[in-house]
Amino acid sequence: MIYITRRERFNAAHKLFREDWSDEKNLEVFGKCSNPNWHGHNYDLFVTVKGEINPQTGFLIDLRALKEIIQTHVTNKLDHRNINMDVDFMKDKMASTEVLAVEIYNQLKPHIEAHGVKIHKIKLVETENNFVEYRGE
Ligand code: NI
Repeated sequence: MIYITRRERFNAAHKLFREDWSDEKNLEVFGKCSNPNWHGHNYDLFVTVKGEINPQTGFLIDLRALKEIIQTHVTNKLDHRNINMDVDFMKDKMASTEVLAVEIYNQLKPHIEAHGVKIHKIKLVETENNFVEYRGE
């Protein structure tokens, strides 16, 4: 078994809030991330896939194909967008790093597995101090 990771970057706006809560409660729970006028992050997305090396190519997966999958199904939909308002797979979901990581994993899984490899892990870095990992468990 071998693992390979592709990084892609995007920047996007979001806010953390619940419509069914008061502004005071949103501020209490989500802090400055509840700012009504949005804020943004420069995200780093690391996608790790695993499988066996193809003896003919020496590759686990063609990284051009992996890059294309990530860009088409995830980062092109997120880059320079508002996560709460513009992104189909985040509709009606909380725009937290945790939820975003799970939804990115779910978007990528079928397309990656169509190439005969398994998706191992998503790592989504929101700030230099905060990141989330998800392995589909
Ligand atoms: Ni934020």
